[in-house]
Amino acid sequence: MERNTLGCFFVVCIFYTALAGDSCSLELRPSRVVVAFGETVTVSCVASRPVRVLGWESAVGATHTLNDQAVQWKVDSLIDWIEEPICYGVFFTAPRQCEEKLNLVLYKSPDTVSISLNHTGTMVEGKEYQLVCEVQNIAPVQYLTLRWYRGEREVYNHSFSDLTPTTPVQVSSSLLITPSVADHGVQYKCMAELDLGIDGPQPTPRVTSQPLDIAVQYAPLFSSAADESLELSKGEEATLNCTATGNPPPTYTWSTTALLPLEKTEDLPVLTSTSLRPGTYTCTASNILGKRSKQFVIKPRA
Ligand SMILES: *[C@@H]1O[C@H](CO)[C@@H](O)[C@H](O)[C@H]1NC(C)=O
Ligand SMILES: *[C@@H]1O[C@H](CO)[C@@H](O)[C@H](O)[C@H]1NC(C)=O
Ligand SMILES: *[C@@H]1O[C@H](CO)[C@@H](O)[C@H](O)[C@H]1NC(C)=O
Repeated sequence: MERNTLGCFFVVCIFYTALAGDSCSLELRPSRVVVAFGETVTVSCVASRPVRVLGWESAVGATHTLNDQAVQWKVDSLIDWIEEPICYGVFFTAPRQCEEKLNLVLYKSPDTVSISLNHTGTMVEGKEYQLVCEVQNIAPVQYLTLRWYRGEREVYNHSFSDLTPTTPVQVSSSLLITPSVADHGVQYKCMAELDLGIDGPQPTPRVTSQPLDIAVQYAPLFSSAADESLELSKGEEATLNCTATGNPPPTYTWSTTALLPLEKTEDLPVLTSTSLRPGTYTCTASNILGKRSKQFVIKPRA
């Protein structure tokens, strides 16, 4: 029972020494460092009591001093995806050894951010398409947010905080869209943003894709679909405007209940004439996606 308690005490004691920074008497300045790939990094390790050996254990820039109470870890151009460096001290008095691990974040903006569509040619309104944004060679991906924009408005964002690699990776995000007429001529783009925290670079590093132009095929549409009626005196000029929008651009046909046949109206969106007789004129705008008709009723002026 006694031994047990003692052992327990011992374990707790050892834990305490290893975990608590204070009792370690080592301080890293700064304790977290965010470095861009290829940039310089300098961190000081300072001991708060006399030390026999003070050093940095690291795959690059390892160093140590004897009897000095400070030692610098310095790399002129950090281009290695190394483990976090550790500062260690060997002291004259207990606790005789301890260490502190540096919180090192080496980051790299993506080489490219590109956007693509799982389809070639024009989109058709009402159908579903997949946009894919691909990010090449980014690190650390857990700090990445991919933002999707429709025009200037953010419509979706994708985080990768559940991933763990610290070395550069390729990631992608997809967005499903069902374009409508309102999407014709709209641009989509995506932006990769690395938010590395308050000690990271400000503004946050961002890379934006080329915009993807959306072209949507849609059936003819009148700005006002309501039938129109006009009163005309004999010989008065009338303008019947059947202009519709559509993609591909609509073609037009006209028909009438008036007694005189229409002449030369083939594919005219606007009919302007002084010889229109009373009656109903029907115009049809068509393209490969459909057709829409509009009626103009001409009455004799009383
Ligand atoms: C594109 O993706 C959408 C949604 O996943 C799918 O419905 C459509 O069939 C895909 N089109 C092509 C050409 O792969
Ligand atoms: C992602 O979008 C949601 C809503 O769409 C928003 O609440 C959130 O703040 C965004 N996240 C980031 C990191 O911007
Ligand atoms: C016909 O209407 C369209 C819009 O619906 C307009 O842009 C065009 O100028 C009009 N044309 C004439 C000749 O009035």
